Amino acid sequence: MKILIVGNGGRESAIAVKLKDDKRISKMYFAKGNPTTAKLGQNVYEDSVEGLRDFAIKERIDLTIVGPEAPLVEGIVDEFKKHNLKIFGPRRKTALLEGSKAFSKKFMQTNNIKTAKAVVFDAYHDAIDYVRNLKFPIVIKASGLAGGKGVVIAEDLNEAEATIHKFMIERIYGDAGIQLVIEEYLRGFEASIIAFANGTELFPCIPVKDYKKAETGDYGPNTGGMGSVAPSPEFTAEHYKDFQENILAPTLAGLNAADIHFKGFIFFGLMVTADGTYLLEYNLRLGDPETQVIFPLMENSLYDVIIDCLEGKPIDLKWKNEKAVCLVMCSGGYPRVIETGFEIKNLDKVENSEVLFAGARALGDKILTSGGRVLSLVATGATYGEARDKVYKDALTIKFDYGFYRHDIGKF
Ligand code: AMP
Ligand code: GLY
Repeated sequence: MKILIVGNGGRESAIAVKLKDDKRISKMYFAKGNPTTAKLGQNVYEDSVEGLRDFAIKERIDLTIVGPEAPLVEGIVDEFKKHNLKIFGPRRKTALLEGSKAFSKKFMQTNNIKTAKAVVFDAYHDAIDYVRNLKFPIVIKASGLAGGKGVVIAEDLNEAEATIHKFMIERIYGDAGIQLVIEEYLRGFEASIIAFANGTELFPCIPVKDYKKAETGDYGPNTGGMGSVAPSPEFTAEHYKDFQENILAPTLAGLNAADIHFKGFIFFGLMVTADGTYLLEYNLRLGDPETQVIFPLMENSLYDVIIDCLEGKPIDLKWKNEKAVCLVMCSGGYPRVIETGFEIKNLDKVENSEVLFAGARALGDKILTSGGRVLSLVATGATYGEARDKVYKDALTIKFDYGFYRHDIGKF
């Protein structure tokens, strides 16, 4: 079997590591990949949907797995299916559950899914009039994809008005801000649950805690994720029951009612408050850095469960009774303005954890930083402390100029 994996982050590195020992896989290709995936397969420099389609036809790829949201929303799955290419992921229409927050909020409301109260706006003046009568804080979201930056928690009316102006009039995120979702602020802790979908059923993985804020102690701006732990230590059986009854079951019922039978991943971004578990968002893909801690604990072959899902069969996910911790090392300035191109040193001295590259590139025999989230360090252990000590030991070893990371991942 030849496999094509679309994406180039830590998530795609984790997919590569999970698949690497599967004897049925003769070759893995990555578009565009990174230094981790280059070691485990071949990086290819296609990134348009048409380019990837032509590559899959030419190389006779047996299975394509899509990491990021953008190609899904562009319709990569529809295009591959037209050409009878096997691909794991939702069609464009389904990916809009992630790509349009207005669409997904309507889906949640129609299907009685437990979520924050919200109103969708298409007109600037209506949005401004609405926020004048609210109690703060409130949450303002650009409906379209904005690279994780389109959500603002407005503390007062001034900030709310300025945000609506930036999104709808200045269009700082382009067309993503044509529509807004304005919703009630929920106070609590977050959890991520990713499920495999086989067309008729959903099979959830263990809950994960993702650390979204840039700085130790949960300060600073929101990021793509600075670290993660699995299973989430905060998400109890009671929270899970709430999730199953009020989010998972009605989501499946809603998908079936809309005649959506996709095969791929669905990610539930959850907020747990004093009133229980709420759905903040769907993503129609694996999370980053959630994937980095899910796959090391998953006992099943990833290849088998994907093939079973594609064939519409049920799967039985099995988990190791261990903990996993992922620490993301970043370029100085992330998630704002970053400088890259610095050599990553001492990689040969890493002894305790797995290095999964993301924003990094090879230059001769050196590896240089090339993005905000440079690499993930991942380890497992009998306790959170054991896994945490491994990644932090290696974080002290690895050096690159202006690098930084949080000091409290997996610390409770
Ligand atoms: P989203 O892309 O909708 O998940 O929002 C990104 C982040 O904004 C979430 O991970 C939360 O940290 C925060 N957020 C979104 N919606 C809410 C809400 N209703 N209340 C509080 N925080 C929120
Ligand atoms: N870590 C959150 C995400 O992948 O969207």
